[in-house]
Amino acid sequence: MNDTTSTRRILVTSALPYANGPIHIGHLVEYIQTDIWVRFQKSRGHECYYLCADDAHGTPIMLRAEQDGISPEQLIERIWQEHRADFAGFLIEFDNYYSTHSPECRHYAELIYRRLDAAGHISRRVITQAYDPEKQMFLPDRFIKGECPRCGTPDQYGDSCENCGATYSPTDLKNPRSVVSGATPITKESLHFFFKLADFETMLKDWIASGPIQSQMANKLNEWFTAGLQEWDISRDAPYWGFEIPDAPGKYFYVWLDAPIGYMASFQNFCDRTGLSFDDFWNPDSTAEVYHFIGKDIAYFHILFWPAELTGAGFRKPTAVNCHGFLTVDGQKMSKSRGTFIKARTYLQHLRPEYLRYYFATKLNDGIDDLDLNFEDFLQRVNSDLVGKLVNIASRCAGFITRRFAGRLADTLAEPALYADFVAAGDAIAEAYEGRAFGRAMREIMVLADRANQYIDEKKPWMLAKRADAGDEVQAVCSMGLNLFRVLTIYLKPVLPGVAAQVEQFLQIPPLRWSDLPNPLLGHAIAEFKPLMQRIEMAQIAAMVEDSKENYPAAEKTVATPRGPLADDPIGSTITIEDFAKVDLRVARIAKAEAVAGADKLVRLELDLGGETRQVFAGIKSAYAPEELQDRLTVMVANLAPRKMRFGVSEGMVLAAGGDGGIYLLAPDSGAEPGMRVK
Ligand code: 2FM
Ligand code: ZN
Repeated sequence: MNDTTSTRRILVTSALPYANGPIHIGHLVEYIQTDIWVRFQKSRGHECYYLCADDAHGTPIMLRAEQDGISPEQLIERIWQEHRADFAGFLIEFDNYYSTHSPECRHYAELIYRRLDAAGHISRRVITQAYDPEKQMFLPDRFIKGECPRCGTPDQYGDSCENCGATYSPTDLKNPRSVVSGATPITKESLHFFFKLADFETMLKDWIASGPIQSQMANKLNEWFTAGLQEWDISRDAPYWGFEIPDAPGKYFYVWLDAPIGYMASFQNFCDRTGLSFDDFWNPDSTAEVYHFIGKDIAYFHILFWPAELTGAGFRKPTAVNCHGFLTVDGQKMSKSRGTFIKARTYLQHLRPEYLRYYFATKLNDGIDDLDLNFEDFLQRVNSDLVGKLVNIASRCAGFITRRFAGRLADTLAEPALYADFVAAGDAIAEAYEGRAFGRAMREIMVLADRANQYIDEKKPWMLAKRADAGDEVQAVCSMGLNLFRVLTIYLKPVLPGVAAQVEQFLQIPPLRWSDLPNPLLGHAIAEFKPLMQRIEMAQIAAMVEDSKENYPAAEKTVATPRGPLADDPIGSTITIEDFAKVDLRVARIAKAEAVAGADKLVRLELDLGGETRQVFAGIKSAYAPEELQDRLTVMVANLAPRKMRFGVSEGMVLAAGGDGGIYLLAPDSGAEPGMRVK
């Protein structure tokens, strides 16, 4: 396996994140998994490209932009910048990061559609759907709420009940209403376009038999075959944010039609920049490999629709579709109220990205089981493996080389057999990386790290150094230790690219690759050693969790984006006038505002309600310096139950607009008095 002479051509993608929300640690499982795999392939000398893009179309994005008072183009541009920054922060290195709202994506969406249509794979028929008469738009199931027809629980989505688990159609809901306008939906007919998936059943069965998906997914697929392949509705009516279907005014491609086409669009854009040939990778007879990394929830689109569309339109099918499970935190679903719904940005404000990259690597394999981020285990694993074992090797050896040998490594290897063992272990490690068994790869690497530490323990260079006759032995032992460390760095580089870059700087060498393994570093001058990594402290994790709680003030929507066929996401649910009347909103004067020691985002406010003073901790420090808040009027929720925080009790909440794009404190018009009721 160390022979990397036969170069493979590999194209790799991760699922395209929706352009209406931030990247969070749940997303990162997949991007980290893919990035590690791609970095491994590149280290092995293969021609490998990692492509991604924002998934920029669909109703939720249209409504979110409307809600924010900006155009969809402005929204997707802003989110695109944010996503890129978040990925870069986690050292996820795309060869191209693009958007489905692009000319290339339109081109391939139209091309695929036209080819499918010409070959008879598109049907058209009139269907009846729920319609919002006020907003004048058709309503996807997730945009209708009402009482569960089975158990009567109020406020349930149009497709299923969160209380009793019943599944139904929106027309079965009692007292249904549109979550967009609150109006009672009516039904309306419209012409829709369908992709005839069943035309591809034999092809799909043959393809699956050739082994491109995991066995658990193949079982799932068989269930779908047994249930029968339905025609897939690929059109949506105006108003819709997407590409209009050719020769069908007012009809748009459903977001999931152009989403995977975004993989091609991103690659075409990359080819145009670099001169690569698109056809070399996408022609039906291509010898290049194409891999999609996705969450198991969107398998339906990638292992049924996508290969069928590709085949029908004269393109190649993926080499493999690699599914992974979901992330839980401390054994539970990520939760905004518990502070475990951690955004990429928030994480990066507290912890180094490589801690999470390594931790996920220890937990990842080629299966689809969920994986758990347990904070205690996370801290132990990182501190023990990376700081206690890996970095320790270098820090125990480097000082002697610098101080006693002017930074020069020995000319020969003290223990060639030991070095050869380390290199030989690369075969099994490479096999584990290739098969996405990253947990196994990390375990094998840590066994080697233990052996390297054992070697240093046995040789005790610190004792040797005290002996007058030690001579070059200290140099020999420490050079050996550093060479073992260098091998470990090659093995860990796909997971820890930042640490590897620091090591390359320390060893004064060009970027390490797998092919460097057989050649130890001898008779070579190295730089002075600087600490490579700090231990994680529980306080850092606690602060990150606390900040994640503060990231969601009441003014911000907290509806999670569902994924899969029903991915259209409501902008919020309606409430009655009685519900609203329960909220006691008051004009308040900010009598005092001060920073809170130990909390990056909080300001402590003393609010004058015209005779009564309240203390409120508000997460607005990123937008306001405390001194500029002094004496301003604002609006507060005065009857919110007091909340005990780490810094004191918060006795209400000030209202602010915005979210990720900034925070804007609400203020009454001039003339309002503290204590006035806001109606
Ligand atoms: O589920 C999601 O988050 C989708 N935006 C994934 C799209 S993957 C691909 F098909 F584009
Ligand atoms: Zn129910």
